[in-house]
Amino acid sequence: MIKTNDCGALRSKDIGQRVRLAGWVRFYRDHGGVRFYDLADSFGSTQVVYDPEAYQSNVNVVGIGQLLNNIGREYVIAVKGVVRERVPGTEDDRNPTGTVEVLIDEIEILNSSKVIPFEIAEQKNSTLPSEDLRLKYRYLDLRRTEMAYNLRFRHKVLASARRYLDSIGFIEVETPTLTRSSQEGARDFLVPSRTMPGTFYALPQSPQLYKQMLMVGGVEKYFQLARCYRDEDSRSDRQPEFTQLDLEMSFVDVEDIFRTIESLYSHIWKDVLGKELRTPFPRITLEDALNKYGTDAPDIRFGLELVDVTDIVKCSSYDIFQKVLGKKGSAVICVNLKSTLVKEKTLDANVGRSEVDRLIDWAKQQGMGGLTWMRMTDEGLSSNIVKYFGKEVLESLERRTDATKGDLLLFLAGPRHLVQKAGGHLRMKLARENGLLEGMDHQFVWLVDCPLFQADPVTGKVASFHHPFVRPVEGDFDENGELLSFKGCSYDLVLNGSEIGSGSMRNHHAEVQRKMFRALGMSEERMREEFDFFLEALEFGAPPHGGIGMGMDRFCSILLGCESIRDVIAFPKNKKFQSLVDSSPKKVDQAKLDELQLMSLVDEDEQD
Ligand code: AMO
Repeated sequence: MIKTNDCGALRSKDIGQRVRLAGWVRFYRDHGGVRFYDLADSFGSTQVVYDPEAYQSNVNVVGIGQLLNNIGREYVIAVKGVVRERVPGTEDDRNPTGTVEVLIDEIEILNSSKVIPFEIAEQKNSTLPSEDLRLKYRYLDLRRTEMAYNLRFRHKVLASARRYLDSIGFIEVETPTLTRSSQEGARDFLVPSRTMPGTFYALPQSPQLYKQMLMVGGVEKYFQLARCYRDEDSRSDRQPEFTQLDLEMSFVDVEDIFRTIESLYSHIWKDVLGKELRTPFPRITLEDALNKYGTDAPDIRFGLELVDVTDIVKCSSYDIFQKVLGKKGSAVICVNLKSTLVKEKTLDANVGRSEVDRLIDWAKQQGMGGLTWMRMTDEGLSSNIVKYFGKEVLESLERRTDATKGDLLLFLAGPRHLVQKAGGHLRMKLARENGLLEGMDHQFVWLVDCPLFQADPVTGKVASFHHPFVRPVEGDFDENGELLSFKGCSYDLVLNGSEIGSGSMRNHHAEVQRKMFRALGMSEERMREEFDFFLEALEFGAPPHGGIGMGMDRFCSILLGCESIRDVIAFPKNKKFQSLVDSSPKKVDQAKLDELQLMSLVDEDEQD
């Protein structure tokens, strides 16, 4: 071994030990002939020293000095030397190795480095370079302490999950990544077949159909850290290529699945964070989530719940509310920014007009007509519009919103779904601005009681709410009934307001599955074309089964407090889905297209 210790290992107890270290030269400085180098690897950094005065006579002081003259930043070196105490007053208390240094008496240069395109060492107030530059030189970005930590953290989470699932009888089974297209909602990435020209594989959006067929195959407790591929709009919590902890079980009901997942996360919590996790996780119905939090992925860690005041303000003569409520399906909701929650110097009980104007502008950007406000004072609710609200209406508002002195009531009016959505964003904005999330524990929630179908927001057609494989709550449904009224056995797992998992019980009777497809408007012919193999599998004694797919990139990035899931992925794609480190996607040679019998319709010039 070139090294006896990693660069984050040495402490005061090691003083006097002879060690070998290897790593990258991150920093160096010369203090009157004594030279200091920060030698770093992914575990940390250690100060190594060339101190000509301190050497014994058998050390080749000149030779070491000459070698050191040749090294630059990020050179790879191996050194041998003795651990010594740092001169008092020069310790670095931000670095765990900061009480010691290694007096080097042998050195070998293992490799040189070009001039680095951005700073790798963490410095006070150092700002990161642009993300595109970090992604182009991702291998350098991964040397940064933060990224090294993130990758190690992710590994620990996944290793802990694997260990636990193995210990309770699950087996990991790999499923194909060259597959047939399945209905998961996003666009597929297609892969042309050379041996059957004109035909295509799809990269899996998830292993959904394979895991169900594993259940038919008697696997009973399956999991997989599965790569999934989706060609969908870019967002900070989405990647076209991501990892799911995918899981499926036979002969279970929803409660068994919830218990399994809760104990899985309890184990991860203990293993990785060293903490107990409170279980069972709270459950919230979709309806309550939308009404109280304005989203199907609610962050329930702080108050600021949405309060529906439609029925109360209907009795006011406030023109704006009257106009809005004249339309079917409209609502007025209120968020009470309690004065006790308000951080100094932001919105407070004595809110200035400019603060309200800022919120009104924000509401307009959210597609709302604006935002109305009232403040609770000793004399009751006050604002420039209270004159349009009778005494009884104001008192009802106070009671419904639990208004006490100093509180600020913010009202949004419009179509119910838009008002809820904007209200959900408003409460998150207020929470962030007032520091309500700082230092808060993580909070899981199960989203339950979801419909089987929903109306597609664009086409208005009946679409599945989760996916077409969800079992109806009753096990079956009347395809001629009111489709939108049926409930499905599906659930989401939400962490701190982000959906980190989604699953359901499945249709194990082929006939119910066929009905689902028909209800979704699929013709018999298309059903045969796309799902014949799957429907047939269900006909060979499929057991009752269900499961869940959990986004591990999202999960790790939430625990680490990253702004984007790209920070927990070694080689992610950028916002335009490009991999900058290897410049893909790229044009391919005409010969390769010919071999696949494919023709590009894009002009040569347009392709780059
Ligand atoms: P679903 O499509 O809801 O369900 O995905 C499950 C979880 O995967 C994560 N996720 C993503 N993470 C990063 N980038 C993306 N583009 C992305 N898309 C989804 C989310 C999500 O909750 N087969 C079903 C699961 C099942 O029914 O068992 C499925 O894939 O955290």
